[in-house]
Amino acid sequence: MKSLAAACVLAMAVAPARAADIGRDLFDAQCASCHTLTGHSTVSGPSLKGVMWRKIADLGDFRYTVGLKAQVGSWSPGRLDAYLHNAQKFAPGTDMFWNITDASERKAIIDFLAHQ
Ligand code: HEC
Repeated sequence: MKSLAAACVLAMAVAPARAADIGRDLFDAQCASCHTLTGHSTVSGPSLKGVMWRKIADLGDFRYTVGLKAQVGSWSPGRLDAYLHNAQKFAPGTDMFWNITDASERKAIIDFLAHQ
């Protein structure tokens, strides 16, 4: 029992440091096939370097849909959460079809993106 309790305390202490890694792992697994973090877009998706607080659908090297271009303002944590939760509901007509149902996964990815 005593060692189990110690393991729990250890796990809790390690958790915050791992959060950034979790966000990166999720990005690599779920986003990197279409998005780079280099600042250069591909035909599959706009670059997500510096996406936090960037104007929505604003990169000159990517051809966005009318649906995403119709969104005014900038990406905030709340707007990224809404887009990643249900892209079609946030921006009807967007051609990103990638919805993440798990709120903690969305948060980890958004926290990671905020530092890119
Ligand atoms: C299958 C390809 C694909 C995957 C996988 C994908 N996306 Fe996208 N994403 C796109 C496309 C295409 C667009 C542009 C959509 C449009 O123009 O309507 C886009 C747009 C975006 C934008 C808007 C960027 C801007 O410049 O305004 C964000 C933010 C975004 N994606 C985040 C993500 C995240 C985070 C993930 C992983 C959880 C992800 N995407 C997974 C294809 C993808």
